[in-house]
Amino acid sequence: MDLASSLWVVVDKKRPLSPLNYVPKNLVTPKFDDGAGTNPYGIQLAKPAAKAVKLMATAMKAAGAGTLSLASTYRSYNTQVAVHAKDVAALGLVAGENLAARPGYSEHQTGLAADLSAVGQGCVIRVCWAQTKAGKWLAANAWQFGWILRYPDGRTMTTGYQFEPWHYRYVGPELSTQMHSQGVAVLEDFFKLPAAAAY
Ligand code: DAL
Ligand code: ZN
Repeated sequence: MDLASSLWVVVDKKRPLSPLNYVPKNLVTPKFDDGAGTNPYGIQLAKPAAKAVKLMATAMKAAGAGTLSLASTYRSYNTQVAVHAKDVAALGLVAGENLAARPGYSEHQTGLAADLSAVGQGCVIRVCWAQTKAGKWLAANAWQFGWILRYPDGRTMTTGYQFEPWHYRYVGPELSTQMHSQGVAVLEDFFKLPAAAAY
């Protein structure tokens, strides 16, 4: 869980990426050939995460929960500089940093994180996403495709972030299945790492 390129890497306020300006080598642009999902901004994910998000979109569509849409996926160090600055400017330091990681500390920089929305269901990158049909389906089923909800409700003292029902992290089906069957929601708990409420 230390290696930036590992599917099991844990990145939080206590665990920056190494190097801080890490760039994954296996970025691809997911295309949803079956129409089950959409990538309107042409953004990238690490290859295994891209493959898994397509399978998840197909299953979500088949379940009648909607068309998955990628709102934000891989972000470079420099992109994260801008995301962090924007949220801190809008919300202040505390609330801004409960929502946006400092550059070098974001799992978006690994290519393994995805902010998910669904066509026509609204609540894009908002807490009300948890109440949408797609948001509920993903919360219940993402583990089957190797994804976990990374910042669950009520876990801010461990994760360092507010409830982010839209932010999913690809960890692979082995780990997501173990976490699901053991009832462990948060990576820090699973790997017995220190809580990461603050930098
Ligand atoms: N929104 C998550 C915490 C990030 O900025 O990486
Ligand atoms: Zn995110």
